[in-house]
Amino acid sequence: MHQQGENTRALGLPAAPAPPQRPLRAPVHRSTTYAFGSSREYADVLAGEAPGYSYARIDTPTASAFAAAVAAMEGAGCDREVRGEAFASGMGAVSSTLLALTGAGAHVVASRSIYGNTYSLLDGLLRRFGVHTDFVDITDTAAVRAAVRPETAVVFTETLSNPTMTVSDLPALGGIADEAGAVLVVDSTFATPAVCRPLEHGAGVVLHSATKYIGGHSDATGGVAVGGADPMARVRAARIDLGPCLAPDEAFLLHRGLETLPLRVARQCESAAAFAAAVAGHPAVERVDYPGLPGHPGHGLAERLFDAGRRGAVVTVTPRGGREAGMAFADALRTATIGASLGGTHTLAGHVGSTTHRQMSDTALREAGIGPAAVRFSIGLEDADDLAADARAALDAACGGR
Ligand SMILES: Cc1ncc(COP(=O)(O)O)c(C=O)c1O
Repeated sequence: MHQQGENTRALGLPAAPAPPQRPLRAPVHRSTTYAFGSSREYADVLAGEAPGYSYARIDTPTASAFAAAVAAMEGAGCDREVRGEAFASGMGAVSSTLLALTGAGAHVVASRSIYGNTYSLLDGLLRRFGVHTDFVDITDTAAVRAAVRPETAVVFTETLSNPTMTVSDLPALGGIADEAGAVLVVDSTFATPAVCRPLEHGAGVVLHSATKYIGGHSDATGGVAVGGADPMARVRAARIDLGPCLAPDEAFLLHRGLETLPLRVARQCESAAAFAAAVAGHPAVERVDYPGLPGHPGHGLAERLFDAGRRGAVVTVTPRGGREAGMAFADALRTATIGASLGGTHTLAGHVGSTTHRQMSDTALREAGIGPAAVRFSIGLEDADDLAADARAALDAACGGR
């Protein structure tokens, strides 16, 4: 009888059996491929006619579990079935969704104040492929309606936009998109499902950079899209063709982050509200953008659309003076750290005009409602009193004489 060689035997060692008890933590499935009992089973799984996994770019149990968990949170109040797809980054989710829902000759109406790479995707790459985007003031519902054309396929906005924390009127935008036969796509990265669930307010697809609040610890990059069966079948097909699949290790970390999302975000929102109120009273401050403050233009909408007491955790503080005043203020902070990104446990601060909006002149910034000295804070989990004391001391030190 033929005796197998050591290499064949090494490759045929028994795989770990599935444990009889469900592990409390969903395991990380790193396998890129799966073993089938028959060619028929392989063909059926690939064709989507039988449940299962075939190849890691298509699905892994770890990424699917994460996507399903986000879908459960975003769809908590929906009476229709919603599905999630996980991506390697927020931009993976944005680009796959926009490519899935448009095509040459299609038209997009997008908010003028959206994340910079989403803007350049729409204004550059997608325009080159024949998708035309009109950028509008998303708070001007009449302007949005006027921009819609018969070929409008997508209305795109962010629940809360950077850095002014502009709140989108999702029900009004959803109504306009519906009438036009278009899909309202909402990037809800700044809000998270712990603050607002856009699918309950007229969105067709909601997107996230999971790198931010969902992961929450500044240690994993990912994205996610959630929506009804029809748009998500198209988004899924685009994801598979384009390839920005979420790696299993990242999916594990992001899924773990999701478990504490409501706790973290509730606390971050509470601290942000206290921080905004404490800093707004400082004599060197020109304005504070935070929808929890009664004077913010989105205050009323946030009351209607957001969960009680949760108004987001990004606060933009604009000291009096120009760019130098803003940079000096950021440099004088000691508890907050100067850094990119948002949504993590550490409070991060950044001077807007020299970083996220560096391409804009002072005049362009002012036209967009942003002061040249604006500093954006992503409020973390430090004690709120310490954050407010830090900002007030930094304002005294950098702008005290103003
Ligand atoms: C609102 C928003 N959308 C999308 C993205 C892109 O996310 P990612 O960096 O995970 O690709 C970001 C990143 O900062 C963002 O702030």
